[in-house]
Amino acid sequence: MKHLTGLCELPLHEIQHLLDLAAVFKKELTTKAPAFAPTLLSKRIALAFFENSTRTRFSFEIAAKHLGAGTLNFTASSSSVSKGETLGDTIRNLEAMQVDAFVIRHPSSGAADLITGITSKSVINAGDGSHEHPTQALLDMFTLKEHFGSLKGLNVFILGDILHSRVARSNIFGMLTLGANVALCSPSTLLPPGTSALGIRIFTDLDQAIQWADAAIVLRLQLERATGGYLPSLGEYAVHFGLSDERLDRIRKHLLVLHPGPINREIEISSRVADRIQPPGYSSSLLLQQVTNGIAVRMAVLQTLLAE
Ligand code: CP
Repeated sequence: MKHLTGLCELPLHEIQHLLDLAAVFKKELTTKAPAFAPTLLSKRIALAFFENSTRTRFSFEIAAKHLGAGTLNFTASSSSVSKGETLGDTIRNLEAMQVDAFVIRHPSSGAADLITGITSKSVINAGDGSHEHPTQALLDMFTLKEHFGSLKGLNVFILGDILHSRVARSNIFGMLTLGANVALCSPSTLLPPGTSALGIRIFTDLDQAIQWADAAIVLRLQLERATGGYLPSLGEYAVHFGLSDERLDRIRKHLLVLHPGPINREIEISSRVADRIQPPGYSSSLLLQQVTNGIAVRMAVLQTLLAE
């Protein structure tokens, strides 16, 4: 592997290798004084974020530092992009500073793939438009694997704004490759055209999806992309597609709940579900475990792509 821009064409053995290596790093991360071999000591990684991020950016930075790599933090608003510099010129100038890899977050779908044609260095997609967010899906699958041992035959549905979601796309590709049964649950206006061609189940009734599933990946309603315009009202969305304690109590079905973050509390997920880390109740929230796992998974990606 030289680049990681998506899971669409990543073969099973590559995904399994990344998840197995992440498990080794996770074990060390949970010790009192984690110590890692500095396998990336001479490497310099540009964290080129043209769009805001909390979890992805910081966890890549921590992952790089654990492996001994140096990082250059780049945000579009504080760079010469604000003076009109193009994406291509920005990448070429960073490469001229002897950067070994680019971690790219960009609002445009396809930006990461485009950059693989501009630079000779490794490119890791940290989320591009509504295209893919491969390391998020890897950490979601890693978290499910930690709980269930395997994804083979596991029933997982993705809930909410599928249309705008790069997380949904990467998870669909990755989970199908690992043998999970994947379903979507969404208002019809937030389903991308052609979804049924992927051979996955579609639910428009959330209760039915919960009854079917072992786990749910709840998506953020992307209000900054005017998602509200696809819905009669946010209140109505919360009633029909919001994952709440009341709904799970009524159905009496235990569900493992994931969410990539950031969350819109009381819209796609209630606080009681999001924060229910230790049940009793009918849900277990894995949200913060996902964030910790993000470090291990991103260490595995950096090590695989960059170690000599
Ligand atoms: N899940 C995720 O990508 O979060 P950030 O936007 O904070 O990186």
